[in-house]
Amino acid sequence: MRKKIIAGNWKMNMTPSEAVKLVEELRPLVQNEAVDVVFCVPAIDIVPVAGAVKGTNIKVGAENMYFEESGAYTGEISPKMLVDAGVSYVVLGHSERREYFHETSEDVNKKMIKALEHGITPIMCCGESLTQREQGITIDWIRQQVKVGFQNISAEDAKKVVIAYEPIWAIGTGKTATTEQAEEVCYAIRNCIAEIYGPSTADEIRIQYGGSVNAANAAELFAQPDIDGGLVGGASLKPDFGKIVNY
Ligand code: 13P
Repeated sequence: MRKKIIAGNWKMNMTPSEAVKLVEELRPLVQNEAVDVVFCVPAIDIVPVAGAVKGTNIKVGAENMYFEESGAYTGEISPKMLVDAGVSYVVLGHSERREYFHETSEDVNKKMIKALEHGITPIMCCGESLTQREQGITIDWIRQQVKVGFQNISAEDAKKVVIAYEPIWAIGTGKTATTEQAEEVCYAIRNCIAEIYGPSTADEIRIQYGGSVNAANAAELFAQPDIDGGLVGGASLKPDFGKIVNY
């Protein structure tokens, strides 16, 4: 049985002091040992949030990371810095990073390899645009993102990765994918992993759905056989996140 994983992606929200207040508000609401709970927060919030979640079930995630160890990469953050600050997860290849910061699947692959090398669990995002869905190429596109993202990653490491399927048209739009649409793609992702690594890796790997997840739709989405939790944007900044964690 795969343990569900429910992660909040705060995106570019919350100053360090606001972040601590939010954690204090959410802390008592997300105490569910049956699921893994992760707060993925802006880089500047990592240290204060790591302090505020100490002794709880909440794990801290970063929203991005660079793939070099150190050096002349102004503005970037290394895996070692994240580990030292208390990070155990990192969101990689979010559609917003692919769209606004021109990240490619090749970049995502390099970051995946580095994160795993440092013991950080990648939450690798994939997802199609509305145009791609209308063109009928959703599954082909997602398979490509997954296949490139997992290049040169061993089966043993692949098992640790969390894949987040986030249809771009469902992000921040209030327009959630239907459970059938979400399950169809998560099932296809699991099949793709099975093709690359075999059935036991595919059985173990966790696949989240993301895109307008809220307190009202979480239970139905997470009940699907291939959906192992969610990556939650807007609703992760509100007490609603507690309801999602306790779906
Ligand atoms: P929303 O839940 O706000 O649609 O965002 C989803 C998302 O992008 C999480 O990474």
